[in-house]
Amino acid sequence: MSPSKTNTIKNIAVLCSGGDSPGMNCAIRAVVRTAIGDGLNVYGIKRGFAGLLEGSFEKMDASSVGNIIQHGGTILQTSRCPEFHEPETRKEAFHILNRKNIDALIVIGGNGSYNGAFKLNEEHGFPVIGIPGTIDNDIEGTDYSIGFDSAVQTAVEAVDKIRDTAHSHARNFIVEVMGRKSPAIALHVGVCTGAENIIFPSKEVDYEQISKDIVRGIKRGKSSSIIICAEGEEPGLSYKIQEELKKSAGIETHVCILGHIQRGGNPSAIDRFVASRMGYVAVKAILEGNYPVATAYVQGEVMPIPLKDSLGKKRDYLPHFVDLARALSI
Ligand code: F6P
Repeated sequence: MSPSKTNTIKNIAVLCSGGDSPGMNCAIRAVVRTAIGDGLNVYGIKRGFAGLLEGSFEKMDASSVGNIIQHGGTILQTSRCPEFHEPETRKEAFHILNRKNIDALIVIGGNGSYNGAFKLNEEHGFPVIGIPGTIDNDIEGTDYSIGFDSAVQTAVEAVDKIRDTAHSHARNFIVEVMGRKSPAIALHVGVCTGAENIIFPSKEVDYEQISKDIVRGIKRGKSSSIIICAEGEEPGLSYKIQEELKKSAGIETHVCILGHIQRGGNPSAIDRFVASRMGYVAVKAILEGNYPVATAYVQGEVMPIPLKDSLGKKRDYLPHFVDLARALSI
């Protein structure tokens, strides 16, 4: 952190990186308007780090972020940029930022994006701030990342609809939700939809237990059941589980993979509120010369924390939710 740079900051840039998440627009809006209010120039970088490398910078004003607070996706667009793992690429990015006279960079994204931003600072001393934006809610150091609540709500609404038809036809469904390396969406959706079981890849699937739960439900008059499954490394894990349940217990299931529907849609009020607070805190941190930091949601407060404390993935993400869902679905 370098307080001495405070008064040298005149131009800042903001980008979104990695998977989009509902509420990113609210964060962009908050960054742009807070910065302009504080006398800074703000540039939006299109398509994340890939756009940075292409020099895709656009000056933003207060109107450029008008009427976006309610929209999902990101007006700046985003990308995954594997090239940014290379030191040479980051060096080039540093030179581009310098040529564009950018004094600090705000990166809205998840774990991979934070790593790129951190290295840019570590290797070149470039001032960076992270804002957690990922539906996976799996960033270390913050209780919350922008988009999680909206994604969970979208999935819950979808499962409620599936529940209607599952009940009408007396069927069992496996509903696969997003979260490549994170069980967070599955765990929350499972509890909120009264699922009979939740499966996430880092835990061995207990087919015997799943069949027991389904049979127990049938005995007490249930005609359908819902199993929520986190996608894991790649979508499609549900089909393996479907096959195994049929083979081991003769249980028939239907599979529904919700997929990218969970990343779109209007941000919830929670996402709008947290994103607005984070965008504001990010700019204030820059003005105070406080970087590299990430904005974090800790016990209801939004605050800057050292970026290095936010680099890892959350550990031990409440696996007892699986037991909770089963306990409540007897
Ligand atoms: O952004 C996080 C996430 O939505 C994960 O939940 C999901 O596994 C992954 O991104 C999908 O990424 P892509 O859209 O690049 O296939």
